[in-house]
Parts: sequence; structure tokens; C-alpha cells
Amino acid sequence: MEQGMLTVITQQEIAPNIFELVLQGELVRAMEKPGQFLHLLVPQKDLLLRRPISINQFDRQNLTCHLIYRVEGQGTKAFTQLSVGDKVDCLGPLGNGFDLSGLKAGDIAYIIGGGIGVPPLYELSRQLVAKGVKPIHFLGFAKKEVVYYAEKFQALGETFFATDDGSFGVRGNVSHLLEGRTEEPAAVFACGNNGMLKMVDAKYQNHPNAQISMEARMACGVGACYGCVCHVKNEPTKSLKVCDEGPIFKTGVIVL
Ligand code: FAD
Ligand code: FES
Repeated sequence: MEQGMLTVITQQEIAPNIFELVLQGELVRAMEKPGQFLHLLVPQKDLLLRRPISINQFDRQNLTCHLIYRVEGQGTKAFTQLSVGDKVDCLGPLGNGFDLSGLKAGDIAYIIGGGIGVPPLYELSRQLVAKGVKPIHFLGFAKKEVVYYAEKFQALGETFFATDDGSFGVRGNVSHLLEGRTEEPAAVFACGNNGMLKMVDAKYQNHPNAQISMEARMACGVGACYGCVCHVKNEPTKSLKVCDEGPIFKTGVIVL
């Protein structure tokens, strides 16, 4: 983990209230695993806490990385004011990242994502493809208007979409997309809202290689403040820190 200044290369609204920020700088050299995140200082002096945003993709040769964020409150609103050439104070890469070590060429991996949980799954899918693993993507969004990166995922492998109102892909959520599938994936990876993670956690709780990415409100981001703990199933006295022991956990471990 390092702290460094990354320079804004581009910033673009790719769907209503969803922005793609491309940053460049030495910190990118340390990026390795998909599912890790950056802890960004907000460019507004009264907002002291950093905001965690997943690394959507990185390119170590050109020292660039992409972040995709949705405007939620004051911090993410302030990010929209960043323009080309501005510097962003970043801490990272943070978190354990998805573990791809058990996979080999020819394996099938399910990639399950929802809404603003989709961004880190893109780097994950790219790394799986580079390993010769076949990703199958199951992505859920509220409606067609807020779908992003559809073609990019399709370029990496088979991709199925669900929207709440049926305006893109099937009507419903990602659990509808998984119904009736007959492949036996060697790994399952998921990132999305709590409801979706609960579904994946229950469905794949005994799967030998199923991993979910958790969200928690964070302060330090580096394991020092215990602000981000989640509880462990069947062990009431045990907790795990999402920032440094996660955000990726095996299914069947965390209380969701
Ligand atoms: P406010 O609601 O004003 O935030 C107030 C405080 O709560 C801040 O300290 C903020 O950091 C914290 N907070 C609020 N919501 C969340 C949340 N859901 N998770 C964690 N802290 C929160 N969002 C994206 O749009 N794209 C991503 O790729 C992304 N990756 C994430 C990866 C991780 C590991 C985590 C934990 C969260 C991620 N988030 C992502 C959520 C993002 O961090 C919050 O939306 C953001 O911090 C909200 O800040 P705000 O000031 O706009 O909102
Ligand atoms: Fe401080 Fe996780 S945010 S320990």
C-alpha cells in the first residue's frame, strides 16, 4: 500500500450520475489483484474522511487506472468537479482482492454483479481471460438507462443482463439469470448490493471457490480504526475488517 498523487487524464459521465475517472501515476505500479480499491481524499477541505472506490481496471505499462463511481453524497459529488490535470491524493491499492490462484485454463467462472458493484468485476474478468478461464457474466441493473460497460463485458465472454423493469435483458434480478444453468463453475465471484450478496452467499455457501466483495463504511481504510468490521457466522465474538481482511470473503463466512 502506498500514498500518492494520481493525475486526472479524463472524467466522463457514462450513465446518469455514474462517472468514469481515468487516473495516471506511479501508484498504479503497485496494482496487481482485481477487487482492490483506492481510498481517495475528497477535493473539498471540510470532508476529512477518504472515500473507498474500487479499481475498475489498470494498465501498469501506461500507469493508468480507471475508477467508476456513482454520485451518492457530498464526497462523490465533489469528485465530479475533478478535471483533466487535477491531482487526486490516493491511498492504495487496498484490500485483499479476488483470489484467482485456484483457477486454470479451460475453467468456467461465474461473475455476478449488480449496479455500482459491477466496476471491479471488469478487471477481474480481464485477468481471468488472460489466464484462459472462461467468464460468464450475470449483471443486474435498475433500468436500461443506468447500464454501463455492456459491450466491454460482452467482448470478454458470454454476458446476461437483468433489469428491474425489463428494459434491458430479462425483467428481474440476477438470481433469475442463474436459474436453470447447468454448468459447474470452478469459481463464483460476486459484487453488488447486500440483497444480491445474500442470494449468492446462500446459493454457493458450500461451493469450494465462491468469493463475494463486501461494502462497509470506512474511515482509515488500512485496518487501524475498526470502523468497518463485519461479523462472522456462528462465531458471535469474532469480527473481520472489511478494509484489510476483505473486502473479498469466501461465501458462508460473513453475516450479511
Ligand atoms: P455520503 O453518504 O455523504 O458519505 C458519508 C460517509 O459514509 C463517507 O465517509 C463515506 O465514505 C461513507 N459511505 C457512504 N456510503 C458508503 C458505502 N456504500 N460504502 C462505504 N462507505 C460509504 N462506490 C462506487 O460508486 N464505485 C465503486 O467502485 C465503489 N467501490 C467501493 C469499494 C469498497 C471496498 C467500498 C467499501 C465502497 C465502495 N463504493 C463504491 C461505495 C463508495 O465508497 C460510497 O458510495 C462513497 O463513499 C459515498 O461517499 P459520499 O460522500 O458520496 O456519500
Ligand atoms: Fe479503519 Fe477498516 S476502515 S479498520
